[in-house]
Amino acid sequence: MEVFGVTVSKPHGGHLVNRFDSTFKYDFIDKEIELSNMELSDLELLAVGAYSPLEGFVGKEDYESILSSMRLVNGLPWSLPITLAAEKNIAKKIAIGETVKLVKNGEVYGVLKVTEKYVPNKEIEAFKVYRTTEEAHPGVKKLYERPDVYLAGPIYLIRRPKKETFEQYYLDPIETRKVFERLGWKKVVGFQTRNPVHRAHEYIQKSALETVDGLFLNPLVGETKNDDIPSNIRMESYKVLLEKYYPKSRVFLSVFPAAMRYAGPREAIFHALVRKNYGCTHFIVGRDHAGVGNYYGTYDSQDIFRNFTEEELGITPLFFEHSFFCNKCGNMASSKTCPHGSEEHVILSGTKVREMLKAGKKPPKEFSRPEVVDVLIRGMVEEYSKI
Ligand code: ADX
Repeated sequence: MEVFGVTVSKPHGGHLVNRFDSTFKYDFIDKEIELSNMELSDLELLAVGAYSPLEGFVGKEDYESILSSMRLVNGLPWSLPITLAAEKNIAKKIAIGETVKLVKNGEVYGVLKVTEKYVPNKEIEAFKVYRTTEEAHPGVKKLYERPDVYLAGPIYLIRRPKKETFEQYYLDPIETRKVFERLGWKKVVGFQTRNPVHRAHEYIQKSALETVDGLFLNPLVGETKNDDIPSNIRMESYKVLLEKYYPKSRVFLSVFPAAMRYAGPREAIFHALVRKNYGCTHFIVGRDHAGVGNYYGTYDSQDIFRNFTEEELGITPLFFEHSFFCNKCGNMASSKTCPHGSEEHVILSGTKVREMLKAGKKPPKEFSRPEVVDVLIRGMVEEYSKI
């Protein structure tokens, strides 16, 4: 656990990648690839070093090595393939060695020097990454819907995607690292979430905070599935919660603009490595981290860490049991700390909570702070009335 003498953690692979070049001249390039939302966010995250040591979309050897052993060819742990997909007829016209524009909605965001083209076996990828080939899984569905050829090679980001809201909460790894240094935090615990922060999240965050210097609340705000609570509503709820219930000098909030994969265990490793690049020394993994439906066991996302040593990951995972409010204890607790039966435990599923919020009904204060609930109901009712 101890990280004596370390100011903030070393980036994965040793140094932070920087592939942002706003002066890159692309007028002479005629071919282009249309990016999906996920690919655009990956392009930006590659360029700012959040995915260090990757410098572009992965080639076939790394892709196969990631699928089979959760490592890059050079042996470094890396659990999710970061790939760019193109339609067959477009890929066919692109020569190896050629540089293509990466565009979305008519805007050029970057370039890719194509070093390889390959056709993935999507069923194998689905099974390896998501542990299922069922299309009902949102990550698998998205994978099957992608075009059929992967283009690989180093990228440059030329234009930053526009931040529609909460712009000041977008910080690059180089910036969060500076913040942690300025705050004098040597041990920083990262927290990933795609949800509002409920009492169970708060409990595990604060339990972790008891043993480290600072908490990096780093909600994912990239593409999520339709029934997840939109990020703009969540951001308001985080701000209210921090204002009312957290010591200002111990928590730092900024966003993680990646798309959610719902890859459970493999995504937990990915989330930890990326937070290491943002400067964290520790990372929280609770119950069913990055899971969806019943595809993963409650603690699969913790068990997967056994495949790696802490030295090679370079970030310490902090594991937490399923937590809840216990009426008899009168406290937040888990099976590790509470002797009472489940009838005393306040546990609500995500689906149930979303239904309540949409209907303007308040989940109990043992589940979620009233101030958070008020923000969520206001946001969800507004969102719902647009449909
Ligand atoms: S996630 O897809 O981003 O993992 P979520 O926002 O629900 O989903 O979870 C954020 C983090 O809190 C994850 O590490 C998850 O394992 C943990 N977590 C969520 N709910 C609980 C709970 N009741 N008890 C313990 N850990 C939890």
